[in-house]
Amino acid sequence: MGIPATTYNNLARPTGVTKRRSSPRRGSLKIRRTRSRDRFFWYSASDGVSRLVNSNNSIPEQVNNYSFAPSEFHHEAYPKTFPVGGVWPPQQIDDLVFATGSENTDCVGDTCYNGNICEDLDCTHTLAAWKAATSDWEKHFELRKTEHRGIGVYTRHAFRQGAILGWYAGELKTLASMDGSKSDYLMEIEIGDISPHTPLEPTPSIYIDGEHKGNWTRFINHSCAADCVFRIMRVGNTRIMAVEAIKDIPRGKELSVDYGEQYYGLTTKKRCACGVPECVERRRIRLEKAMERRKTAEKAMERRKTAEKAKRNGNIKRCRRVAPPILV
Ligand SMILES: C[S@@+](CC[C@H](N)C(=O)[O-])C[C@H]1O[C@@H](n2cnc3c(N)ncnc32)[C@H](O)[C@@H]1O
Ligand SMILES: [Zn+2]
Ligand SMILES: [Zn+2]
Repeated sequence: MGIPATTYNNLARPTGVTKRRSSPRRGSLKIRRTRSRDRFFWYSASDGVSRLVNSNNSIPEQVNNYSFAPSEFHHEAYPKTFPVGGVWPPQQIDDLVFATGSENTDCVGDTCYNGNICEDLDCTHTLAAWKAATSDWEKHFELRKTEHRGIGVYTRHAFRQGAILGWYAGELKTLASMDGSKSDYLMEIEIGDISPHTPLEPTPSIYIDGEHKGNWTRFINHSCAADCVFRIMRVGNTRIMAVEAIKDIPRGKELSVDYGEQYYGLTTKKRCACGVPECVERRRIRLEKAMERRKTAEKAMERRKTAEKAKRNGNIKRCRRVAPPILV
């Protein structure tokens, strides 16, 4: 069941990253006074004090929603895999990420955190109900600062394999609208018909950008032995990127997903700090050592060849010296 997990896309980071003001007192007071506390993310530090999340030098706004600017989609062609009669350019979220027709991924329903999946294509579940059901995330998860990986998400209770833990929310964007800007928080999601048997055309995608606006799932870090996946599902007629537990997860454990080889791989610049025995960094070290050994062996071989050649040349010279002149 389901569609292969989409991946984070390691496009480069955006230029206009929010910076805190130079006066810390004024900056933090301003944030506390002018904005309601629950619009931003907070975590309890080990000293017991609540701290505003400062994630990758920006302060993300907490929204458990999809948001989008219809005008960004005006210049996009009607997706070829959309059924005839779809609304384009999209005016509402559901015009863009609707999940109907032969696309038959499961509906996660309006019940959250229990993996209660409804398979009725004509069900009455709605995104509004799903958002309401997933807004109490702090009962189930908490944010904590990790040592080398920024903020991470930890469970407050155990979850069973297969449980749906939440969904990736954020701003829906086209690649063109990002205009070469960069984000570490982009999640690709297909639009149109994603049925495994039908698409004759490549399925078009858009991006859910959780960098500046998103929900708690934007803090799920990468692990090379992940316990969750991102998976396309639907809630009624709206497509979502659900977070599903692929292992039983105990209380107090950090949640993780595998961002994919393009994000943390043997050939990427970014270095993974997940620390598990199967981590790509250990593979990299093994590979580098093997390459080092190979280089050393090649150099030794080269030296041997040179020595042999020198010896041969020396012999030839000696031969020449002792050889009698050729008389014609
Ligand atoms: C989608 S964000 C996850 C939330 C992030 N920790 C934060 O505080 O906003 C991805 C970023 O988190 C950090 N990160 C996640 N997993 C990591 C890992 N295994 N090793 C090192 N850094 C990691 C990197 O900075 C990465 O670009
Ligand atoms: Zn349903
Ligand atoms: Zn790793």
